Amino acid sequence: MENKSLVTIAEHSREKLEYLIKMAAEFEKHPNSRLLEGRVVATLFFEPSTRTRLSFETAANRLGARVIGFADPKVTSGTKGETLKDTIIMVSNYADVIIMRHYLEGAARYAAEISPVPIINAGDGANQHPSQTMLDLYAIYKTQGTLDNLQVYLVGDLKYGRTVHSLLTAMRHFSPTFHFIAPEELAMPGHWKQYCRDHNIKYVEHSDFNEDTIKDADILYMTRVQKERFTDLMEYERVKDRYLLKRNMLGKAKENMKILHPLPRVNEIEYSIDDDPHAYYFEQARGGLYARQAIICDVLGISLDEVINNKTIIQ
Ligand code: CP
Repeated sequence: MENKSLVTIAEHSREKLEYLIKMAAEFEKHPNSRLLEGRVVATLFFEPSTRTRLSFETAANRLGARVIGFADPKVTSGTKGETLKDTIIMVSNYADVIIMRHYLEGAARYAAEISPVPIINAGDGANQHPSQTMLDLYAIYKTQGTLDNLQVYLVGDLKYGRTVHSLLTAMRHFSPTFHFIAPEELAMPGHWKQYCRDHNIKYVEHSDFNEDTIKDADILYMTRVQKERFTDLMEYERVKDRYLLKRNMLGKAKENMKILHPLPRVNEIEYSIDDDPHAYYFEQARGGLYARQAIICDVLGISLDEVINNKTIIQ
């Protein structure tokens, strides 16, 4: 079988993204089946995770696959000096697909080059988080009814936040206008702004974060300051609480504006917003289960037609 790894969402065309959204919608209707019976899915998490690992594992379990792996590299032979290369080769002896989160940018690309089975990048350093982007696109499509011509506001840590970098690359197909709101220390890096210019993605930079700044937003995408990427913790302390979304900032928001956040939340969204109709971050995360079912099936060569005509659905 052709190795169909998912390393970066930038590899996918508009048509492919829409295809995966359709597949995710099918899984939302029928999440439980035996579509992956007999398959083994490995989850190798070299960095902490709650949502990504557990939703991938749930996705596999609900489709009848078995799951192996680790959530903590300290319990593996990596502590004895085993290399990433040897780890990947070994796990490919056991599993049909490897889902990997790693702290090094480029680790997923490297793993995909040496692995005989598909690799799904579950986050590589500050670089990319393609499965998060699939669930973000699914949430945007579900709430806005389209991915085209939206005003998307990215707030917080735009330097280290891999989810916003992945989202930029995916949205290039859909003529968005991005608004970057970040402290100077965590501004969108120059190479990502160059990426926007190279791909005709409109962007505006703001330093203020208030009711007026966000009043035209269709999507307000909040992010956590990525403490784990800072070499200087004093700098983290200086910027960590800079942008907090408060309920009283939503007074001028568009009626259908939705607040997204890849989570975990630390101090970016007031808890009092959770029951506001604009809040969508927990529903967004729930959609991750269906988006990840679609991703696993796709890299294993299971088509949308097979998902639609699946005779093994468990009601
Ligand atoms: N959004 C996200 O990647 O969450 P986790 O770090 O909990 O997996």
